[in-house]
Amino acid sequence: MSGVYNFAAGPGMMPAQVLEQAQREFLDWKGHGFSLLEMPFTGDDFKAIQQRAQDRLRKLLDVPDNYRILFMHGGASAQFSLVPLNLLGDNRRADYLETGHWSRRAITEGRRYCLVNVAGSSRGSDFNRMPMQHELQVYSKTAYCHYTSNETANGVQFHYVPETGKVPLVVDMTSDFLSRPLDVSRYGVIYASSQKNIGPAGFTVVIVREDLLGRARPATPMVFDYRMQNDANSLLNTPVTFSIYLAELVFGWVEEQGGIAAMEQNSLRRSRLVYRAIEKSEGFYRCPVESEHRSRVNVCFTLSDESLTPRFLEEAAKRGLINLKGHSMIGGIRASLYNAMPDEGVVALAAFMDVFAMEHAAYV
Ligand SMILES: Cc1ncc(COP(=O)(O)O)c(C=O)c1O
Repeated sequence: MSGVYNFAAGPGMMPAQVLEQAQREFLDWKGHGFSLLEMPFTGDDFKAIQQRAQDRLRKLLDVPDNYRILFMHGGASAQFSLVPLNLLGDNRRADYLETGHWSRRAITEGRRYCLVNVAGSSRGSDFNRMPMQHELQVYSKTAYCHYTSNETANGVQFHYVPETGKVPLVVDMTSDFLSRPLDVSRYGVIYASSQKNIGPAGFTVVIVREDLLGRARPATPMVFDYRMQNDANSLLNTPVTFSIYLAELVFGWVEEQGGIAAMEQNSLRRSRLVYRAIEKSEGFYRCPVESEHRSRVNVCFTLSDESLTPRFLEEAAKRGLINLKGHSMIGGIRASLYNAMPDEGVVALAAFMDVFAMEHAAYV
């Protein structure tokens, strides 16, 4: 629907150009007389689509040759289990950074498999900042150190890559993947589920350093074993063909827009607009996150009079600014600014915030 800007945290907004192409190709894929939904995943056509998706992603992120790109099932939540199952080996211990809702979920799941050492936490400041490098205490003999680069629910983001020495660094990059440049060589494993900057919901990208393959616990299901999926080029069982097809188109769209550097500039510019509207309101809106730790992807804020929140959401929706409700555990407002959100959507949101503050400030 034109004139509607979707600020949902995921599944999030997709590029209109990609949706239009998919619509054109939906019934008759490239003149073959059948839909892509009907295409066997073992055939050359689908294999070529999947290969192109991997190649495009490799190019976008400049993924070194000693890293494998897997497309897996189960979302990022499955990775909360698959990371320990695949990486612990004989080790009984792993380090985690505790920085908000999603890292806590990863920790809870990690505890089912190993002794979790919380090597850094911002719980004491109610997750309104990220721990700094000097506050981290990563144990040198731990199996890996896991962190969440962007806390989607809390609106707080790492603006540096934690240094963990020889300990493999594992990152849940679900909500800021493809929104800024990434030095893949700093990581052991990078994972991100698809429903934010990659495309529709359905699969998880896992980028894994080759030397970490082959350590899975014997009871790990085959389809969740990184080495087995790598050996089968992520075709060990039926992949989510349609989502992968759409992701390949999204990667092409990102390339056309100027690649990851352009995505970063966009998210910087767009998030600044919303943060400026918050600052300008002189306390009508409040962002609890310290300024140097604010997310450029999920801008979270509250209204000083929280009883006005439903009205804010209702009036925003009337103007086509939809899905601004904060995470159910956190409340308030959340504007998710994924790659496909155009400048016009953010300008419209900032203008609405100004007007709403002016109209209601007198009552606060
Ligand atoms: C940072 C982060 N990690 C994990 C998840 C869970 O992803 P999924 O629903 O694909 O399991 C989300 C979902 O929003 C997320 O934002």
